[in-house]
Amino acid sequence: MEPFIRVENLCKTFFAKNGRVEAVKDISFEIGKGDIFGIIGLSGAGKSTLVRCLNLLERPSSGKIYVDGRSLTDLSERELRRARQNIGMIFQHFNLLMQRNVLDNVCFPLEIAGVKKRAARKHAMELLETVELSEKAKAYPAQLSGGQKQRVAIARVLAANPDILLCDEATSALDPRTTKSILELLKEINLRYGITIVVITHEMAVVREICTHVAVLENGRLEETGAVKDVFCSPKTEAAKRLVMNDGPDIVTAAVDENTKEVEDFAG
Ligand SMILES: Nc1ncnc2c1ncn2[C@@H]1O[C@H](COP(=O)(O)OP(=O)(O)OP(=O)(O)O)[C@@H](O)[C@H]1O
Ligand SMILES: [Mg+2]
Repeated sequence: MEPFIRVENLCKTFFAKNGRVEAVKDISFEIGKGDIFGIIGLSGAGKSTLVRCLNLLERPSSGKIYVDGRSLTDLSERELRRARQNIGMIFQHFNLLMQRNVLDNVCFPLEIAGVKKRAARKHAMELLETVELSEKAKAYPAQLSGGQKQRVAIARVLAANPDILLCDEATSALDPRTTKSILELLKEINLRYGITIVVITHEMAVVREICTHVAVLENGRLEETGAVKDVFCSPKTEAAKRLVMNDGPDIVTAAVDENTKEVEDFAG
């Protein structure tokens, strides 16, 4: 059976003032429908570039991306726009519209899609319920915590009804407990809507917590990929070993540690 996402011999070279950077070097892998696929690697390994190529935010220098059997690089502008609506993305710094309140942020993609205002608001309120943020509908992003902002971003991305959700360090700005709640939300979305999720992270605990599969990048190359349990229990490459060995505590423990620290801080 054709995999849901297939990346074939993907290369991305940047030509900068100070020379060329081969950010992604001949990478091939597949992602199954409904998977939660982690991408790990050190800073500069090429994770963001690779993921930005998945929705052609970044044009690959060469290689192919197939989504549901269709080659994205061969689509017309119009077809590509449609295909892109199917691929949502969330970021470390949330990228909310600061001048709009929470409800209007979530309505935004619906308005773009031409949904009537009343229907858009109704649907947006349902999505805010899904992310447990109904009571903040009238608040502005500046009045929210990081975790709440990410929930708004998730509700907004869901409004476009995507089949794929790309997350670039979506929990990196959050404390362990908030990270855990956002990961639970992502897992719930994956189950409830069957959305395939791609997660870039530098936290191994995030991979262990929610991912089904993982890819290890180093210096633009794909070093290893497989089921999380295989890569984490018996990493085959040095790159994977280094990352997995560096593995910190899991998120629950980290959250508990943080509580203890708060108590200790309080106690002086
Ligand atoms: N627009 C660009 N122009 C030139 N070089 C770039 C550009 N974007 C990324 N690079 C380079 O490509 C390489 C990979 O960068 P990328 O952002 O994909 O890494 P990353 O794995 O996401 O790192 P991090 O964990 O720090 O986010 C780096 O050497 C980076 O400097
Ligand atoms: Mg990055």
